[in-house]
Amino acid sequence: MEPTIDARQQGTSGLPDFVLRHFDRQSDDYDHLQLYRILQSGIRQSALPAGLKLPPTREMARSLGIARNTVVHVYEQLALEGYVQAGVGRGTYVAQLGLRPAEPATRAARRVLLSRRGEDLVEHAGAARLQWGAFAPGVPEVRLFPAQVWNRLQRGLWRRAAPEQLTYATGAGDAGLRQAIAEYLQGTRGVACTSEQVVITSGTQQSLLLVAQLLADPGDSVWLEDPGYWGARSMFRAMGLKLLPVGVDAEGLAPTRQQLRRPPRLMFLSPSHQYPTGALMSQRRRRQLLDYAAAQGVWVVEDDYDSEFRYGTRPLPALQGLDEQGRVIYLGTFSKTLFPSLRVAYLVLPPDLVDRFARALNELFREGQTLQQAVLARFLAEGHYASHIRRMRAVYGARHDALIHAIRQQFGDALPVIGGDAGLHLVLGLPRGVDDHAVAHDAQRAGVATRPLSMYYVRPSAAESGLLLGYGAVREEEIGGSFARLAEVLRAHL
Ligand SMILES: Cc1ncc(COP(=O)(O)O)c(C=O)c1O
Repeated sequence: MEPTIDARQQGTSGLPDFVLRHFDRQSDDYDHLQLYRILQSGIRQSALPAGLKLPPTREMARSLGIARNTVVHVYEQLALEGYVQAGVGRGTYVAQLGLRPAEPATRAARRVLLSRRGEDLVEHAGAARLQWGAFAPGVPEVRLFPAQVWNRLQRGLWRRAAPEQLTYATGAGDAGLRQAIAEYLQGTRGVACTSEQVVITSGTQQSLLLVAQLLADPGDSVWLEDPGYWGARSMFRAMGLKLLPVGVDAEGLAPTRQQLRRPPRLMFLSPSHQYPTGALMSQRRRRQLLDYAAAQGVWVVEDDYDSEFRYGTRPLPALQGLDEQGRVIYLGTFSKTLFPSLRVAYLVLPPDLVDRFARALNELFREGQTLQQAVLARFLAEGHYASHIRRMRAVYGARHDALIHAIRQQFGDALPVIGGDAGLHLVLGLPRGVDDHAVAHDAQRAGVATRPLSMYYVRPSAAESGLLLGYGAVREEEIGGSFARLAEVLRAHL
């Protein structure tokens, strides 16, 4: 039902009275749908007149007692539909409507048809719309991929393609690729495995889906690093698991005594390069968590997504190599070392899980891409993978230095750089109270992609303010100029 209008003034909190009056915390409706409908109808009925400045997302969220992400999504949706306009550093304003046709309302109504689970997923979605350019986090330099080598290998393999490589896949992936991955992991990551333990998937997301479906039931709990990877959070949420955020300190995941008393079914970790803070889990914490997992029967899901890229320091071997009880599920991917749209990743499983995981994979997805996997196997076996990684480590190292230089040039030591010695991104810390969502939003309008650090937290009370800056997808010589544009946006918020 559309709320009716009779007030235009701002409430004492700075929120339009109209919003305060109609927002019902006890409502069964999802927060984002409720807020969307209230603002949309307010604007359509002119209770929220053209030119009215909407409160900043943080303030709106605090006053209504809802997540800031929710407000951000609602503002974005309204902007998409032309109800509001946002300008760099200026905030969000009600747009001048040449009265809107019914179409946006239809679109909103269509959203209601989703399941509760679907609504929950979409409401909390974290994937960025921009997956390229300065400073999109987690995106590698795809322009330097050795496409000629790949093409040559691919042509050769297609010439000899067997029917089994073109029909549905039936096992755990191409045997040559599983072998090459096992050798690579033993040699560079200290992973203790044979090729039989490797199952090829089409991305970490699919690996996580299998883990959640085969090792947990809806309602089981999962410990998540907080801050942590939104992709894992979304997958576990969509699978109906109970998300239990666990804080991260300088040594890695740091469960409280109270949390330790109630073991979860799964714990999800990025021990080699905590995402997004970059912390490296200490040896002591690794042992403690593995002992705990073995004693309590917890599955440890280790996400080792970008440890190839460290600048100056050597990576610690994978947690999996320390595991003597078969509790660790190791996840790797080619998304960062090669290119994301390749969609090839893998799990390394305790031996007695392998057949059942492969069975489930074939059953749910009827896998394929077998020939592509064979090309990748050759790419690894002939040494092209190792030399590409060596080359890219130097490229990213130079970009990393250029970004730090640009930060220091613009801000001196005023803003801390967090987790800057590995991976494809760093975190630029912002003073408490700076609305990092608003900064990222304005930066995007200025043509610079960043992600607010606070969006990686489950617990709003723990959220720190900052920006994730990726340097994988921007040329070294463009870093200074792009950061200068970001700095201009930032100064308007500091
Ligand atoms: C923490 C983390 N793990 C894993 C991945 C890789 O995911 P996928 O293999 O699905 O591309 C990413 C990519 O952004 C990531 O940030």
